[in-house]
Amino acid sequence: MCGIIGYIGDKDALPILLKGLRRLEYRGYDSAGVAVIESGKITRVRSVGRIDKLTKELKNNELHGHIGIAHTRWATHGGVTQENAHPHVALDGKLALVHNGIIENYRELKNQLGDIKFESQTDSEILVHLIASFYNGDLKQAVTNALRHVRGTYGLAVVYADNQDELIVARLGSPLVVGLGEGEYYVASDATPILPYTKKVIFLEDGEIGRITKDGLETTNLSDELVTKCVEEIEWTDEEAEKQGFDHFMLKEIFDQPQVFQDAIRGRYNLTEGTAYLGGLNMTDEEIHSIDRIVLIACGTASYAAMIGKYAFERLANISTEVDVASEFRYRNPIINEKTLVFAISQSGETADTLAAVREAKRRGAFVRGIVNVVGSTIARETDGGTYMHAGPELSVASTKAYTNMVAILLLYAIEFGRTRLITLATGQRLLNSLREIPKKMEIILQQADKIKVIAEKYMYFKNALFLGRGINFPVVLEGSQKLKEITYIHSEAYPAGEMKHGANALLAPDFPVIGIMTKDQLYDKMRSNIEEVKARKSPIMLLATQGDEQAKELTDDVIYVPDTMELLEPLLNTIPLQLFSYYIAVLLGRDVDRPRNLAKSVTVE
Ligand code: G6P
Repeated sequence: MCGIIGYIGDKDALPILLKGLRRLEYRGYDSAGVAVIESGKITRVRSVGRIDKLTKELKNNELHGHIGIAHTRWATHGGVTQENAHPHVALDGKLALVHNGIIENYRELKNQLGDIKFESQTDSEILVHLIASFYNGDLKQAVTNALRHVRGTYGLAVVYADNQDELIVARLGSPLVVGLGEGEYYVASDATPILPYTKKVIFLEDGEIGRITKDGLETTNLSDELVTKCVEEIEWTDEEAEKQGFDHFMLKEIFDQPQVFQDAIRGRYNLTEGTAYLGGLNMTDEEIHSIDRIVLIACGTASYAAMIGKYAFERLANISTEVDVASEFRYRNPIINEKTLVFAISQSGETADTLAAVREAKRRGAFVRGIVNVVGSTIARETDGGTYMHAGPELSVASTKAYTNMVAILLLYAIEFGRTRLITLATGQRLLNSLREIPKKMEIILQQADKIKVIAEKYMYFKNALFLGRGINFPVVLEGSQKLKEITYIHSEAYPAGEMKHGANALLAPDFPVIGIMTKDQLYDKMRSNIEEVKARKSPIMLLATQGDEQAKELTDDVIYVPDTMELLEPLLNTIPLQLFSYYIAVLLGRDVDRPRNLAKSVTVE
């Protein structure tokens, strides 16, 4: 949560900072602010609300500095007010700082600093005063000294008015990327704001502090030792981070799915051998055989993808598999040992709870691998291997294409493990051939977007909804229900349909619609009976059914047909109509689809 950006070079900093903030807005959108140095003076402008509001406020403010920092906030400590917006300043406005993270010992530090007037209620402001207290001409040293006293997490950027050729950055637990241009540098919480200018980046590691001047980056650690950094190349394109004519990022990302799914599986299977090969696993065949349990750790939408992984690992590889919501994992006594393979699944690779779970699982001696989208992210770095999901930049807060690719990677792993333990060549080949047909089938679903919109118009006024599925489609309805809550604010629940009689049946009524998945698989007949029960209780019903299933129409007028596929692959298709259904309801209700209230895409605090 919170996004930071900084620029130093020959260009006007302000437009770069504002454009960058827009790309980072998914990280928080409570307030935003910039600070630019011009002629030895820092000008700071902050505003409550979105970047657009800040941009409007800056319209009449001609700022032409070549160095600056900016921030978009997701409030943790202190309300959503202008005083709490970053940048924070000290030394009569000469020192300015932006911070992403949490300073846990801020009260203690505040007491130690004594008689200083604080402008905000944030934990971040302590940092700028602490740095000021150490400042005696060397800004980097002051930042280093200050950070030695700090407990918590930070990704930060600091500037000092008298030195227009120096930007100091530091990181501990919150991501920070430095982009290398020609005689210019960019810093940001992730690579997306940097993409228009350069693909060459340096990822700062925890405990590193960088001094950036137009001539280069000098990195040291908290013990003042020099650290040599590698320059890496980002694969994402600038275009991918744009809406490309779609009304919202979410819609664009839903429509990206056939393409990015291909990117996820390309080069990762061998049809002749009927198996998958995921190079990043970094495990010998012997080690793979030694595994007796798999634990999948994730949060939010990623945890529903993980549940699909559980079905696949158990069915294809006969390995007992558990899914753990990361925020619960570390507060239990998880039974993890050197025979456990843990996958941490995360789009951002920065989710604080998932990261903490990774560390705990490593401490307990498990094999810990990542399934991550953002290259160079903390989870990608801290796991001992794993697989990038190649979904491209996902900027809508509600996850869509990353979810699909998480499922794709989990299925590939299940096929790989399955082939070494259980399933035949023919089954492996059948699965892979079916996977290869998925993009084309996704397109068939996407072509029905207008029809789904018409159905959404009928359901948009309900205050509640119940999603029902069975077997492999139970996680799919959990994800469908999650999407509806997240972006439309309609209350919804998801139930395994067989469990209805034990509670949820009491909810059924004409004002309580049911969204059910009744595709043709081994549980079809049972699901059909469940839907009959719903119909008898007069709840409106929207159904997903397999193309050609005319009987579905006897149950409701609102049927969305999806192409047939192998049962384990159904989630790859069935999720898409539910994404579109929620998307259109959110649009019809006038919700802020890409930035739903109170949420952030990357949850870097516990
Ligand atoms: C937040 C986002 C969700 C996402 C979850 C996990 O809650 O709003 O869309 O599923 O975090 O994020 P991750 O980056 O770890 O997949």
